[in-house]
Amino acid sequence: MHIRPEQPGDATAIHALTQLAFAGAAHSDGTEQDIIIRLRERGKLACSLVALQSNDIVGHIAFSPVTIDQDQDQDQSQANSHWYGLGPVSVTPALQGHGIGGALIMQGVNHLQTGLQAGGCVVLGDPAYYGKFGFAPSPVLTFPHAPAEYFMIRSFDGAIPTGIVHYDAAFGV
Ligand SMILES: CC(C)(COP(=O)(O)OP(=O)(O)OC[C@H]1O[C@@H](n2cnc3c(N)ncnc32)[C@H](O)[C@@H]1OP(=O)(O)O)[C@@H](O)C(=O)NCCC(=O)NCCS
Repeated sequence: MHIRPEQPGDATAIHALTQLAFAGAAHSDGTEQDIIIRLRERGKLACSLVALQSNDIVGHIAFSPVTIDQDQDQDQSQANSHWYGLGPVSVTPALQGHGIGGALIMQGVNHLQTGLQAGGCVVLGDPAYYGKFGFAPSPVLTFPHAPAEYFMIRSFDGAIPTGIVHYDAAFGV
């Protein structure tokens, strides 16, 4: 298995993979593949990685910028920090549970930190899964559209902005 950034020509395979991976997911509304298209069209696919096995795309992860409605008292240096949202992330059903999703998350987070100088990352999902990768709910950086335990954050520099997170319009929330 090998991971590389999305290249021109990958979009159709990413779309099919995402549709297939989320088809059996209880929390899915079946539109995750369309979110990726909208992010790409809007120039908001800040990091898009594919996992390849024998030249087939078997995994994908997307990251996009989020905005934070911050407290007026917030330190200006934090107000300027760049935060990203993780997702959607997909692994082809037959290969789930073999570490591909974890490898995509770790490589993507590493790119946010070193390539994009991100302040941190947020994710909406299963706490049992994302907790393995250092994500945890925060009492100060929140997302009102989901139960608090499913919205998690990971700061890269220890600073956590106070405020409400907004995903890109591509997510439709
Ligand atoms: C979620 C998903 C991307 C994970 O990819 P994966 O390749 O199956 O995950 P990994 O094999 O890397 O798992 C990493 C670890 O998490 C665990 N894990 C996997 N899925 C889990 C789950 N749903 N809940 C809790 N732990 C989970 C694995 O056991 C493994 O733990 P270990 O390292 O201690 O052995 C994949 O299952 C998927 O595509 N699911 C359908 C789409 C989806 O739900 N995406 C996420 C939306 S929030």
